[in-house]
Amino acid sequence: MHSDHIEIIRLRSEHCERVYDISAKYIPEHWSLDGIKDVLRYDNNIYYVAMCHCADSGFDKTEVVGFGGIMIVADEAELLNIAIEEAYRNRGIAGRILDKLIDEAKLAQCTRMLLEVRKANETAQRFYRDKGFDDLGIRKNYYVDPTDDAIIMDKVLG
Ligand SMILES: CC(C)(COP(=O)(O)OP(=O)(O)OC[C@H]1O[C@@H](n2cnc3c(N)ncnc32)[C@H](O)[C@@H]1OP(=O)(O)O)[C@@H](O)C(=O)NCCC(=O)NCCS
Repeated sequence: MHSDHIEIIRLRSEHCERVYDISAKYIPEHWSLDGIKDVLRYDNNIYYVAMCHCADSGFDKTEVVGFGGIMIVADEAELLNIAIEEAYRNRGIAGRILDKLIDEAKLAQCTRMLLEVRKANETAQRFYRDKGFDDLGIRKNYYVDPTDDAIIMDKVLG
């Protein structure tokens, strides 16, 4: 695994099925495959994927192992989703994707980035706090299947 080379690149149509697979595996409120393909049609949706040029893992070729995306509306960017294959976590891949998304948001003159995360998802909250996001509020029972509150977080982009 340590000889794997990870590259962060913009989402292309040939990546969409793997992005769908990863989101369906790890995000309860994941989008449909068509919904993921749709993001390529809108300039204000910016997605990156992590490509693993894998040497000795279960993925025996160049493969998508994670993704993340934002939607830009006026001067704010919303982090729509981010997920990494379990075997590839805790090695900074989501951090690298988020850094790219933050750069894109700044280029688009956004002044802050917002996100919602399940209250039960403490791993993601720790990741976001580590990346400079602050707690902004709570939406009670925002999520279904399973029911959960949403923690709203934001980061000022300077
Ligand atoms: C949340 C999630 C995207 C993080 O992905 P990740 O690639 O593991 O994230 P990173 O590796 O960049 O950072 C995770 C931790 O690893 C640490 N880390 C980063 N590089 C590291 C390295 N080379 N060695 C060891 N640890 C490292 C980071 O400091 C971070 O620690 P922290 O969370 O305590 O701050 C991932 O857990 C995931 O896909 N979860 C399921 C989907 C999900 O919940 N998405 C969010 C929905 S809102």
